[in-house]
Amino acid sequence: MRKKLYVKTYGCQMNVYDASKMVDVLNAREGAEVVASPEEADIVLFNTCSVREKAQEKVFSDLGRLRALKAARPSLIVGVGGCVASQEGEAIVARAPVVDIVFGPQTLHRLPDLIDERRRSGKPQVDIRFPAIEKFDHLPPARAEGVTAFVSIMEGCSKYCSFCVVPYTRGEEVSRPLEDVLTEVAELAAQGVREVTLLGQNVNAWAGAAPEDMSADFSVLLELVAQIPGIARIRYTTSHPREFSPQLIEAHARIAKLACHVHLPVQAGSDRVLAAMKRGYTALEFKSIVRRLRRACPEISVSSDFIVGFPGETERDFEQTLQLVRDLHIDQSFSFVYSPRPGTPAADLPDPVDRATKLQWLERLQRLLEEQGRGISEAMVGSVQPVLVEGASRRDPAEYSGRTPNHRIVNFPGSSGWVGKIIPVRITRAFPHSLRGEAEAEAA
Ligand code: SAM
Ligand code: F3S
Repeated sequence: MRKKLYVKTYGCQMNVYDASKMVDVLNAREGAEVVASPEEADIVLFNTCSVREKAQEKVFSDLGRLRALKAARPSLIVGVGGCVASQEGEAIVARAPVVDIVFGPQTLHRLPDLIDERRRSGKPQVDIRFPAIEKFDHLPPARAEGVTAFVSIMEGCSKYCSFCVVPYTRGEEVSRPLEDVLTEVAELAAQGVREVTLLGQNVNAWAGAAPEDMSADFSVLLELVAQIPGIARIRYTTSHPREFSPQLIEAHARIAKLACHVHLPVQAGSDRVLAAMKRGYTALEFKSIVRRLRRACPEISVSSDFIVGFPGETERDFEQTLQLVRDLHIDQSFSFVYSPRPGTPAADLPDPVDRATKLQWLERLQRLLEEQGRGISEAMVGSVQPVLVEGASRRDPAEYSGRTPNHRIVNFPGSSGWVGKIIPVRITRAFPHSLRGEAEAEAA
């Protein structure tokens, strides 16, 4: 009988991608089908995040809620994966005995074996190693669901920002070989995918093995992906300012299929704070990247990540962050109050600023980012945007939706034949989280 699988994902895009791979491996081995609630499931997986304390604690309260379910149905398998798993390992089973298996981001391909071993031995199984990039050799071929897809091209992070757990939970940067990435994109394109998002914790640090006669960096990879038949649009996330090379900037001028949008985390606008964060660039260097990008691609929209209330941050430092957001006209972004993470260097720094001040800073920053994002949306009204049509709207089948190059959702009256095509759409209204438009004409 097919096993029923429930996966709950916390945190970043990498986790969303990993969750889809968990489904794929269990589907390939156990014929698992996805269900909508733990109550219906034979296997419940929590794909966790430990970037901030709140996300980490949420997992334990969710696990607590599974106790009654497991008591009523002891054959239920409960697994914890992702970054909390990687950081806590065996301690998860000690704190939450309901857990049967613990696996890390680099061992998710071993899920079926861990489940078998748990059933056979009756003992909890823990595997949170970082066995280089072996994972990708053991995953089933990528399956397309719709016209857009994610392709992981590198994993982990070697930057060791002083506030961040990721290098400890996901391991150092490892890139997939060039040919593996191109093959996966080509396979997805053959299944109807038109837009790929290349994914990595620092995606532009990609340095995968290439055939002997070739030296390939991230900009060369983009060029090659753009040549794959069927691929109409390319995105990538998340990029790091330290590896934002002149070649990558130039790629934005040269590769028409590269979407006019970058997500480039800056974290703060003060050099003092950036140095304490060990980010490896100054505010001026960051501004210079964005200005050169805008020269290469004048329409480009730039979104970012911010941390407010880093230990020792002052009102003056914080205002420099606001100034940077204004100067660079940063679009809708992610921003959070600093959360001390055990084991990271910043967790030991004195932190005199009170929580209320930090929350007030966050509110001011988010208000500014929203205002600017809204301004960008409103300025798009009247323009014609190339929209990749992703599908019909759930609420109204005569309505279709897709995204603009700067990643905004547009809804418009359309037809099923447009799905997968890039259609010129005139923007008629801007809402806080979407745009409304009318197709100009059907594209070829
Ligand atoms: N590689 C990316 C970069 O260039 O910075 C970031 C990846 S990180 C997993 C995603 C975001 O989480 C960061 O950009 C940062 O804003 C946020 N983050 C990481 N550690 C944090 C912490 N201790 N407190 C608050 N936010 C944090
Ligand atoms: Fe974290 Fe900095 Fe890497 S934010 S993921 S250590 S670039």
